[in-house]
Amino acid sequence: MSIKEKYFHENVVYQIYPRSYKDANGDGVGDIKGIISKLDYLKLLGIGIIWLSPVYESPHDDMGYDVSNYYKIHKEYGTLEEMELLISEAKKRDIRIIMDLVVNHTSDEHEWFIKSKDVNSKYHDYYIWRKGRKNNTRPPNNWQSNFSGSAWKYDKDVDKWYLHLFSEKQVDLNFHNKEVIEEVKKIIKFWMDKGIYGFRCDVINQIYKTSLDNGRQRIFLTGREHYLNQEGNHLILKELQRDVFSKYDSMTVGETFRVDFKNANKFLDDELDMVFQFDHVNVDRFSVPLFKKKYRPRKLKKILFNWQKNVSWNTNYLENHDQLRSIPRFGDEKNYYLESAKMLAMLTLLLKGTPFIYQGQEIGMLNIGTDNLEDIKDVAAVTVYNLLRKLLIPHRLALKLVNTINRDNARTPMQWDKTHNAGFTSGDPWLKVNPNYQNINVENNLKDPNSLFYFYQKLIKLRKEIKALSYGNFNALSTSGNLIAFTRTFGEDEYTVILNLTNKKRKNPLFLRGEVILSIYGETNYEDKKHLAPYEGALIKTS
Ligand code: NOJ
Repeated sequence: MSIKEKYFHENVVYQIYPRSYKDANGDGVGDIKGIISKLDYLKLLGIGIIWLSPVYESPHDDMGYDVSNYYKIHKEYGTLEEMELLISEAKKRDIRIIMDLVVNHTSDEHEWFIKSKDVNSKYHDYYIWRKGRKNNTRPPNNWQSNFSGSAWKYDKDVDKWYLHLFSEKQVDLNFHNKEVIEEVKKIIKFWMDKGIYGFRCDVINQIYKTSLDNGRQRIFLTGREHYLNQEGNHLILKELQRDVFSKYDSMTVGETFRVDFKNANKFLDDELDMVFQFDHVNVDRFSVPLFKKKYRPRKLKKILFNWQKNVSWNTNYLENHDQLRSIPRFGDEKNYYLESAKMLAMLTLLLKGTPFIYQGQEIGMLNIGTDNLEDIKDVAAVTVYNLLRKLLIPHRLALKLVNTINRDNARTPMQWDKTHNAGFTSGDPWLKVNPNYQNINVENNLKDPNSLFYFYQKLIKLRKEIKALSYGNFNALSTSGNLIAFTRTFGEDEYTVILNLTNKKRKNPLFLRGEVILSIYGETNYEDKKHLAPYEGALIKTS
């Protein structure tokens, strides 16, 4: 299928988690000035778009995914003027910014919610307030929150319950109310008019709750059939596209939990430009995310190929602020740290779709883990820990389980150099810096021509220069499940990618004639190569 060429087809997105990127004022929390000071670094890397996780005013119960004012900047991050400066400084460097649109819920400290407690105010209907069952003593239905436990909280002043699909401080908005939709349009316009390029739309496939009936009993997320991927949700997104996004040269990416490629395509028709799916990052999880299962490369491959074949424009990512770091998950941190990191970079950058890389991924940052409960800042991890303890799971085991989902793992401060606190802050960092920063940091990467940073830089550059790598068709090649091979074709040009997903030497089933454009092991000929080394990867111009 041919695609109308757009900026987001050709450019790579880099996600910044502002709290942890760079602290300019020494208060231990990253800020906008800090980000501005690193724009030249991002330019050097070659990315074209920044996805900025929420910077709005917020009590930071869920680190900004709980917005108390959509028109103000969170005070620890800076001011509106600084945000405008960031947009214009980025523009000077040909970098566009997308923001996070977090509108499934607001913070309970948002003035709409505070006013909504007056049942006679129009704001009461902005949220989902209901009387409970059993004479108001039990929640209105059996739905569960994403962070575990009931999705309802009783408020004694109102004498009703409100719905929160995430933490108690993240209150779900009522998208049956037209005024709520108008408020969302206003927010989008406000920021688009400030010159941003679009939005990553947080949990956007669950904003419309079709009914509040009891859900089918499940181990995880009871109730979800009433609000995931609903028809009413599609109508709202079409309306936002028609009334707002279509008036701008814009990009939208939806975070869509639990979509398969059939309903993903529905979102792509005339609603969003692309969606984040989670099949591939759930490859090592049971349906209850707390339980890990062994990662099997062949499964990852099957999932990725299915999405490539069935969706015309994908998002390609392995990391973000909610996921564990990718090298320990899909690579081999101990024995093939650099090789596996490079292989994962090729996977992310060479599949068809917009690549998203997460801060620190380009220098190979790793998980931190913790054996100290007090260190955990992630509200989801803390909630799950408390639940496990209630279920009488001993502390050590509960902590061990929680470490496998603790989102702090990917949120530790960016590692800039070897100096105190990795050059992130001169103060006390809000979250512990990973002690491996002496080795893994930007400074070291920039000194070493063979580093992961320069590998990403090279891939980003190739993807920009070679049309087949951005717009080209994707065609799967058949190999064993331990390898991934595919071509990208555009006109007469054909490029072949072959990757060994494992830490073992593998037979090379393909004899690839042509110029080697990139090879992790520096090979120059793949025509008579009988084996692929652990995590070996190559890009070859095969015609
Ligand atoms: C998805 C975000 O990525 C995550 O960080 C957040 O906790 C939830 N949505 C709720 O906003």
